[in-house]
Amino acid sequence: MKTIIEPFKIKVVEPLELTTPEEREQALRDAHFNVFNLHAHDVLIDLLTDSGTGAMSSLQWAAMMQGDESYAGAESFYRFLHRLEDMTGFTHILPTHQGRASERILFELVGGPGKIVPNNNHFDTTRANIEHSGAEAIDLVIEEGKHAAVRHPFKGNMDVDKLVDLIDRVGPDRIPLCMVTVTNNSGGGQPVSLENLRAVRKVCDGYGIPLFLDACRFAENAYFIKLREAGQGDRSVRDIVRDMFELADGATISAKKDGLVNIGGVLLLRDDALAAQAGALLILTEGFVTYGGVAGRDLEAMAQGFEEVVHEDYLAYRIGSTQYLGERLLEIGYQIVEPPGGHAIYVDAGELCPHIPQELFPGQALVCALYREAGIRSVEIGSLMFGDAAEPPPMELVRLAIPRRVYTQSHIDYVVEAAAHVFEQRHALRGLRLTNDPPYLRHFTAQLEEVTVEAALPAR
Ligand code: F0G
Repeated sequence: MKTIIEPFKIKVVEPLELTTPEEREQALRDAHFNVFNLHAHDVLIDLLTDSGTGAMSSLQWAAMMQGDESYAGAESFYRFLHRLEDMTGFTHILPTHQGRASERILFELVGGPGKIVPNNNHFDTTRANIEHSGAEAIDLVIEEGKHAAVRHPFKGNMDVDKLVDLIDRVGPDRIPLCMVTVTNNSGGGQPVSLENLRAVRKVCDGYGIPLFLDACRFAENAYFIKLREAGQGDRSVRDIVRDMFELADGATISAKKDGLVNIGGVLLLRDDALAAQAGALLILTEGFVTYGGVAGRDLEAMAQGFEEVVHEDYLAYRIGSTQYLGERLLEIGYQIVEPPGGHAIYVDAGELCPHIPQELFPGQALVCALYREAGIRSVEIGSLMFGDAAEPPPMELVRLAIPRRVYTQSHIDYVVEAAAHVFEQRHALRGLRLTNDPPYLRHFTAQLEEVTVEAALPAR
């Protein structure tokens, strides 16, 4: 069968309101051409992020009614704990309110000036927490992972030779841990193979460096391993997930992705002393070790979500639906990061709009066009987002991230149809100029106006 069907039926619906082109034009202007400023009410299909935007199952909602809100030793904590012990094999398991809270605690303990933390590609909050501690964050993804049109089954893999070079150059004492992000969000939602994780583990063992996973999308990564890695096709996703975690000395998890919840996170550790220190920091800012900044009902939702996410019918639909969107966009003529990732499709807007120079944000031009055309909200990952970095980003990307279990296949078809209309108008898209440029993380609050290329760059 070719049709992708959602392996669930709908019990509760949330109405979407259709807007007119005139209403969207007004909303976009009121938002100063920054879709973070839109009221979600004015968005029809929200592909801003897959984080915390998923739909929970009837079993998750039912579990939430059993939430034990005791300050210490709540039953809900023990259900959460046993689920994670069973899934990962870890024994030191701390709940947090989201991924970046786990990152902050970890890097407050192991970071600091002079330290260096390698990763395939650091996600923004991971990098920010490392740098905030005074340490340096370094990206070592394989060369294939840096080129949109190059296909590789495990484009998120770490370049093992470069890792060895780095350790030899700076010395293992300066590297408190090595991280690998599964799947590699900043590199296009691309997976990492078990073989690569084993190779990285071997290098780390040789130098006595702990290996950590940024495991937000561990289940999607495991499913790609099952689909693509030699010898893994007959194994269960559960077993592959277990193998991935057993290779690591620790992990940070945002449960807002593969935990299938709207809020929550986890910090996994093996080292007893480090776990004791992390528990103390958790109490300082998140909460007692048996609730870590979320409610008992949230722990229940996570316990059930981590169970449901490894169901293979779900993963087949999830990965299949993202792939379907990516392949249709390629057919229309878009260049995307190939092959399609797990949670999102990344469109190369620089390639789409060569008439808009980097300084006039071709990615944001595409973001605005998709909203105008059909009320679709996406996000620019290019010069607007990384404008404060020392070097311009290598690509001007637009990410269409797919919330879990929220949109149906016909919603995806609608996105494809809208993208085809926008493709026809690509030569007419206009660049944008900043009218308000905040000093930090400017893409969240910046304001812009549309300009013609000639008017903005008279000197050219
Ligand atoms: N690591 C990765 C790989 C992520 O994608 C994210 C969040 C985090 C860590 C931080 O987790 O948001 O729970 O604090 N990514 C979201 C996104 C925000 O849109 O890609 P958090």
